Amino acid sequence: MSPNNPIYVTQPYLPPLNEFVPYLQTIWDNKILTNGGPFHQQLEQALCDYLGVKHLSLFTNGTVALVTALQALRITGEVITTPYSFVATAHSLLWNGLKPVFVDIDPHTLNLDPGKIEAAITPQTTAILPVHVYGNPCDTKAIQDIADRHRLRVIYDAAHAFGVREASGSILRHGDLSVLSFHATKVFNTFEGGAIVSPDAKTKERVDHLKNFGFVDEVTVIEPGINGKMSEVNAAFGLLQLKHVNKAIQRRKAIDAIYRTRFAAVDGLHCLDFSTQATASHSYFPILVDERFPVDREALHRSLAERGIHARRYFYPLISEFPMYRDLPSAGPGNLPVATRVAQQVLCLPIYPAMTSEQVESVVQAVLGQCR
Ligand SMILES: Cc1ncc(COP(=O)(O)O)c(C=O)c1O
Repeated sequence: MSPNNPIYVTQPYLPPLNEFVPYLQTIWDNKILTNGGPFHQQLEQALCDYLGVKHLSLFTNGTVALVTALQALRITGEVITTPYSFVATAHSLLWNGLKPVFVDIDPHTLNLDPGKIEAAITPQTTAILPVHVYGNPCDTKAIQDIADRHRLRVIYDAAHAFGVREASGSILRHGDLSVLSFHATKVFNTFEGGAIVSPDAKTKERVDHLKNFGFVDEVTVIEPGINGKMSEVNAAFGLLQLKHVNKAIQRRKAIDAIYRTRFAAVDGLHCLDFSTQATASHSYFPILVDERFPVDREALHRSLAERGIHARRYFYPLISEFPMYRDLPSAGPGNLPVATRVAQQVLCLPIYPAMTSEQVESVVQAVLGQCR
């Protein structure tokens, strides 16, 4: 693969343009551009049906949804979270004046390690903000047990977990709220977009007020809400995307299977195990490169880039290493040994629905080529 024809870690899924035109025509005809219009309402219902949840509020993006979720539950003080995520997870806490308390991750799931949460709880702790990293489910039972014992709320950052299901139902039904992202890079995208999944109609109503400036009717504002509304264009696009998403996930699954087979016998290269208890949506393909591999992660990353293959080091640096977090007592590498090691070893390989078999093979060859 030449650098002139690069392969990126992902490529957004776009349905045929002609299928989108009738949706645009409808918007042009009815002149409803936003404020909970017909496509917005249809997409909320369609996503509830698809995901197997009862109450979902669309948002303009996942970050505003996270910020709003914390407001909706009136979280205060300290919140326990993971350093191993996209920076928006912890930023949502700072935007609410909350103090992030970082806890290390489990070496197998790369999610918040429930065994280490209790030691980080103080009288100021009010909530836990775990992330289903790469869509791999957190240990929701252990986290809920801790939350119940200490009377904490749980908000899941489920930005990577679109369509992830366990035998008993959607992963999104755990905790007090779950937050999705429909960013362009996600399995299901609306260009930009996101959602909050609420457990009941009353909570959804509160979330809906908060995302609309706090308005409850034309003249009544009950909260200092934000503008988190998804536009009709984005919602219409989401409705069209939903028609294609199963096919897109199937292709991701096939690529995932090829990588796993081809890398199974490679010393020092570990493909992240996905929970056998859940149906994955294959949003990422992370590998961990350890000292038995002929080159380290940095060298592999560089070597792939020279061949036009743009893998990404998600998640490096850790959130706890960014300037606005690194002075927190919980941010030190000594407190986060597993996350610190994994951040040095991880590389997410390209995976997206339009990736051809030849492109997958060129990634495989570029990785295996390091061993020759
Ligand atoms: C774990 C995680 N949380 C939050 C976000 C923020 O979502 P958005 O980009 O839709 O604001 C993202 C990704 O973009 C993410 O990966």
